[in-house]
Amino acid sequence: MNYEFISISNDGDGIYIVTMNRPKALNAINDKTMAELHDFFGTKGLAIADLKGVIITGAGEKAFVAGADIKEFLTLDVSKATEKSRFGQEAFFFIERFPKPVIAAVNGFALGAGCELAMACHIRIAGEKAKFGQPEVNLGIIPGYAGTQRLVQLIGKGKAMELCLTGDMLRADEAQRLGLVNQVVPVGEEVAKAKEMMAKILTKGPVAIQKTIEAINAYFQYDEDGFEREVQEFGYLAGTEDFKEGAGAFIEKRKANFKGK
Ligand code: COA
Repeated sequence: MNYEFISISNDGDGIYIVTMNRPKALNAINDKTMAELHDFFGTKGLAIADLKGVIITGAGEKAFVAGADIKEFLTLDVSKATEKSRFGQEAFFFIERFPKPVIAAVNGFALGAGCELAMACHIRIAGEKAKFGQPEVNLGIIPGYAGTQRLVQLIGKGKAMELCLTGDMLRADEAQRLGLVNQVVPVGEEVAKAKEMMAKILTKGPVAIQKTIEAINAYFQYDEDGFEREVQEFGYLAGTEDFKEGAGAFIEKRKANFKGK
């Protein structure tokens, strides 16, 4: 699939930047954009051998993503909307379950699908002027890309209910206080901070990073026992070369040289 509305770049350091790239529409996610995200996180990105982590950000200075493309809403009926929601949820599950760390560098409005996209990422770094919200009720609809679920997971039922019912926007500092955002940085430094955090994560054991993502995600899967998942992954990791290297390096007072095996 050729990408028209997301662009992919990397500096050769294994950190890939996915830029939401429809700045004239404040990077609103239309069906083609969602198909591109679905393709990258479900297929293409998984096959890139040197990919170690992904940062998602928005083109332009104003928006990360200002929502699903409202212009496309006009042609929706019950069947098309159900399919749209299911496909978008699947794409965002691909992000949440991506085996490498995914950090959102939120450089402006993260509304509706934009807030949902940020929440599907493993970590969120926001610029001080970023704004978060689920304003779908203003249009007479609800979040369709798992906003009602992940917002509860991140900030709790009461606040999630308030945000989704009022459609109000949260400032970055409020979002951080509530746990929606991990760190707030000066405007323009979102990607740099995300890269800095990613670089730190990438010094750790790669298999342990992947298993951490899986074990934490398991907490939120109704069909999984996350505690048992942790037991299994802990046992599995004890059999890896990385674990022997990491523990050995600590004892020998040297830096670990992880191989991802
Ligand atoms: N879908 C489609 N187009 C969108 C969009 C969306 N979700 N959000 C913004 N745009 C477009 C606008 O239509 C406008 O296009 P135009 O120049 O062709 O008219 C352009 O992006 C710039 O937006 P504008 O509204 O002029 O910018 P602003 O600075 O005045 O306001 C927002 C910024 C984010 C507050 C406002 O655009 C907004 O409320 N967007 C919709 C947010 C929303 O409800 N998202 C959830 C959708 S489910």
